Amino acid sequence: MQKAFWKEAVVYQIYPRSFKDSNGDGIGDIQGIISRLDYLQELGVDVIWLSPVYKSPNDDNGYDISDYQDIMDEFGTMADWEEMLEGMHQRGIKLMMDLVVNHTSDEHEWFIASKSSKDSPYRDYYHWKPGKDGKEPNNWVSVFSGSAWKYDEQTDEYFLHIFSKKQPDLNWENPKVREDVYNMMKFWLDKGIDGFRMDVINFISKVDGLPSAGNPDQYEWGGDYFMNGPKIHDYLQEMNRKVLSQYDVMTVGEMPGVSVDEAKLYTGSERNELNMVFQFEHMDVDSGEGGKWDVQPWTLDGIRSILHKWQVGLAENGWNSLYMNNHDQPRMVSRFGDDGVYHKQSAKMLATLLHTLKGTPYIYQGEEIGMTNVQFDSIDDYQDIEILNMYQEKVVEGGEDADKIMNAIYVKGRDNARTPVQWDGSEHAGFTSGTPWLKVNPNYTDINAEKALQDPDSIFHYYKQLIALRKQHDVMVYGDYELILEDSDRIYAYTRTLGNEKWIIILNFFKEETEFQLPAHLKHDTRELMISNYANIDEQQPIDRFTLQPYEARVYRIQ
Ligand code: NOJ
Repeated sequence: MQKAFWKEAVVYQIYPRSFKDSNGDGIGDIQGIISRLDYLQELGVDVIWLSPVYKSPNDDNGYDISDYQDIMDEFGTMADWEEMLEGMHQRGIKLMMDLVVNHTSDEHEWFIASKSSKDSPYRDYYHWKPGKDGKEPNNWVSVFSGSAWKYDEQTDEYFLHIFSKKQPDLNWENPKVREDVYNMMKFWLDKGIDGFRMDVINFISKVDGLPSAGNPDQYEWGGDYFMNGPKIHDYLQEMNRKVLSQYDVMTVGEMPGVSVDEAKLYTGSERNELNMVFQFEHMDVDSGEGGKWDVQPWTLDGIRSILHKWQVGLAENGWNSLYMNNHDQPRMVSRFGDDGVYHKQSAKMLATLLHTLKGTPYIYQGEEIGMTNVQFDSIDDYQDIEILNMYQEKVVEGGEDADKIMNAIYVKGRDNARTPVQWDGSEHAGFTSGTPWLKVNPNYTDINAEKALQDPDSIFHYYKQLIALRKQHDVMVYGDYELILEDSDRIYAYTRTLGNEKWIIILNFFKEETEFQLPAHLKHDTRELMISNYANIDEQQPIDRFTLQPYEARVYRIQ
């Protein structure tokens, strides 16, 4: 397998609104990021993925962009942004910007022109259609509830918005749209950025004619007609040819609903599309038939079989992103670990998984200190458009039980990940001197970065150790992955092998102790403990059979 910087890197995601406020307006900003670059350098990350900082009316916190080439006032100025980039580069950290080009804001000048008249040269920048029998042009629903179409009186037509009403979908069929997007990408690349994370990039090619999905008489999810659509590979190859290949950059495509076979096409080295995909299959392990808000318990087998499938599927060609939370997902320690008694142990166990599978690990801000989910008593304390629209639809209009829906929000809501980063134990967790735009998690006096830095046994220091280990041992990056104990309902264990180097990773996913038994083919003469989340392990003790402590993680090199 070919070596590459982006395979060896560890990425850290910043969601700027919640990262660090510098001017007391309660909203994170670029100067706030600058003030924490030393912290990120200390952690040892190589790349920062910065969620959108562009001009935006913030219907979806910056994922609705009204000017791609300017900075949101609340976040600062272009000069601040340039200072930030320089500060990152001085510290050897690369910057990957968020590229949101499935849609713009409805306040983008292209949309304003598009909407003004059917004859506007920008009309075809978006998907406009007349209604059908007094209803929407098709039956697709939006990700954020309700129809995916909005009627516009001015020209008596509807426009398509797969996300919010303020996020009209761009029409990638139009070569002018593509040229404008490519030019915008060059604008940032010429400023010296190091890559792009591409928002729902597998949604940009829609099936011709935008047909209704399933039963046309009811609203349905139209994903089959726009996820991994007919021209998606043409568009990405064109983008690669015209833009990406001209620069030394790293790319990751956010791709809900992508299959392993599709991912091979997106990331195969001979395909000239993207470096890696961000897939979501394992993020559905606790969703029932009713979708995201139909919360069901996850099983280890559910998580493992999905991650395993992706490990094996992209083993020879292609590349995985490794993550269990981001700004759209609840906190992983609350979801897959234990945010109570075994907070530290389980956060470290999950980190061990993410940093020892094959792929590029992504750390979402606050994960490195074990930030947890939050429970606000009132729906009024929530800010996320997805949560608020869903609550309106299900509870206010649909009459569903409010407690049941609040519980689903506690488990799955995006605001779990968006509460401000907990920097210290002072008021508002040291995030702001003003009133935070979203309340801080009340556990900030226990869980915060200042405490974590002081405690040598903290989750932070464990991440630091994992990241440093990756820099020293190629096997963590390039080693072949092989699953062992595939039938265990308690332990996820596997090996990584590169030449003579063989590592074995053993993870207890539960709070109960459990028995580990080494498969016969892994008999060995010597073993070295590379990292573990418990200090009380006798390193010389043979590992043929032993008891794993709650959420215990061990990584051995065997020979
Ligand atoms: C995926 C982003 O991660 C999410 O935050 C956003 O709401 C949608 N795409 C729409 O841009």
